[in-house]
Amino acid sequence: MKYLNGKHILLGVSGGIAAYKSAELVRLLRLSGADVRVIMTKAATEFITPLTLQALSGNPVHTDLLDSAAEAAMGHIELARWADALLVAPATANFLARLAGGRADDLLAAVCLACDAPVAVAPAMNRAMWEKPATAENLATLQSRNIGILGPAEGSQACGETGPGRMLEAAALADGLSAVFQTGVLAGRQVLVTAGPTREAIDPVRFLSNHSSGRMGFAVAAAAVEAGASVTLVSGPVSLDTPAGVQRIDVESAADMHAAVMQAATSADIFISVAAVADYRPATVAEQKLKKGVAEVSLDLVRNPDILAAVAALRDAPFTAGFAAETESVENNAQHKRRAKGIDMIAANKVGDGLGFDSEENALHVFWEAGEQRLPVTGKRKLARQLVDLIATQFQHSHHQGKVLKFNAKDSA
Ligand code: CTP
Repeated sequence: MKYLNGKHILLGVSGGIAAYKSAELVRLLRLSGADVRVIMTKAATEFITPLTLQALSGNPVHTDLLDSAAEAAMGHIELARWADALLVAPATANFLARLAGGRADDLLAAVCLACDAPVAVAPAMNRAMWEKPATAENLATLQSRNIGILGPAEGSQACGETGPGRMLEAAALADGLSAVFQTGVLAGRQVLVTAGPTREAIDPVRFLSNHSSGRMGFAVAAAAVEAGASVTLVSGPVSLDTPAGVQRIDVESAADMHAAVMQAATSADIFISVAAVADYRPATVAEQKLKKGVAEVSLDLVRNPDILAAVAALRDAPFTAGFAAETESVENNAQHKRRAKGIDMIAANKVGDGLGFDSEENALHVFWEAGEQRLPVTGKRKLARQLVDLIATQFQHSHHQGKVLKFNAKDSA
C-alpha cells in the first residue's frame, strides 16, 4: 500500500452485499495516507449508510448526479479531476454492464466516464452471474479499455453458493490499488531532478530568490520513483518533505546546484530540470551585512550558468527535459528554448492564468522534436505522473533510436 500516501482516491460503491467490506477498505486507504472520497449508487445506500462511509472517509459522500447543491459543491467533473485513481468496490454485474456500455446515468457512472485517472473495478456477484458470457464480455471490454480488474476471489457466497464472485478482501484491494501507481515504465533507470528556487547571496543576511515552492519538482521526483527509477533530487531551499525513496541533495545557490547536478548527471539516464534557477547573481557578495546610509544602492549582477544546457552539452548526455514559463506565443517560444538549450523535451506552462509557481494546480504543453502533447489543468502530483509517463515514452523512443544508430555506425565501420 506504499504508493497510496497523499493520493486522492475515489471509491465507488455499487449495490451489492459486499458493500459492507467497503467500510474497512475506506479505513485502510485512510491509514495508508490516502485522501478518500466516496460515491455511492442508490442501490448501495440500501446496503450500507452514507453516514458510515462519511465518518470513515472524513468527507461527505456523493450520491446524486442531478442534485444542484451537491454539484455546486463538487460536481461530477470536479470529482473526476480530483481523483488520482478511481476504484469501484464492489462492482456489481449491473454496474460492470453499465460501465462497459459507457453509460452516464448516475453519478458513479458519469464520474467513471469523465475520469482520466486510472480506473479499477472489484467485481462482486453470485457465481452464476460471474460465469455468464455477458459478464465475461463486459469484463473483456473493460480490460481492453485499460480498466483494472481486481479479483474476484472464490469461496462461500452470501447467497449460500460457493464459487468465484466474492469481492477481494479490503487489504488485497488496497494493495491492488497501490500497484496502479507503480507503473514500472522507468524500472532500472537513474533519474536526476532539480526543484525549487535558488538563493543568490547579497550579503550574509540577504539574498535574491523567487517564489518557486518546489512542489512540481518534488511531485516529478515522486512520480519517477513510482515509475521504478532510482531518483536523485537536487533541491533549492523549500519547506517540503522528501518523497519516499528519493535521494535528496540540498543546495542554496545556482552555483551549488550546478556543481551537484554536473556530478550526478554523469550516471543519469534522464535529467528533468524543474528548478527555477536564478538567471543572475550579485557580482560580489559583501562579507559583512550592508548598512543603510545612502538613498540609493545598485546591485551588479552576473549571469549564472545554465544548468540544463550544460547537462545537455555533456558528451554522454542523459535524456533532458526542461520547463519553460511563457506569457505569450507558447509554442514558438518553448520550441525555440528547447532548441537553444539543445534539450530533448520542454514542458511549457502559460503563466498569468493563476497557475504555476504558488498554486496547487498547473497545466502543461509539452514539446519534443517530433511532437507535442497538452496536459490539461490538474493537481501537480497528477500532472507530474502524466509528464513522467510522457518522458518515459520519449526516452524509450530516443534510446531505441540511439541504439539503432550506434549499431549502424559499428556495422559500417
Ligand atoms: N534552467 C537551468 N539553469 C538556469 C536557468 C534555467 O537549468 N540557469 C532551466 C530551468 O530549470 C528550466 C529551464 O531551464 O527547466 C527554464 O529556462 P529559462 O531559459 O530560464 O526559461 P524561463 O525561466 O522561462 O525564462 P526566460 O524565458 O526569461 O528565459
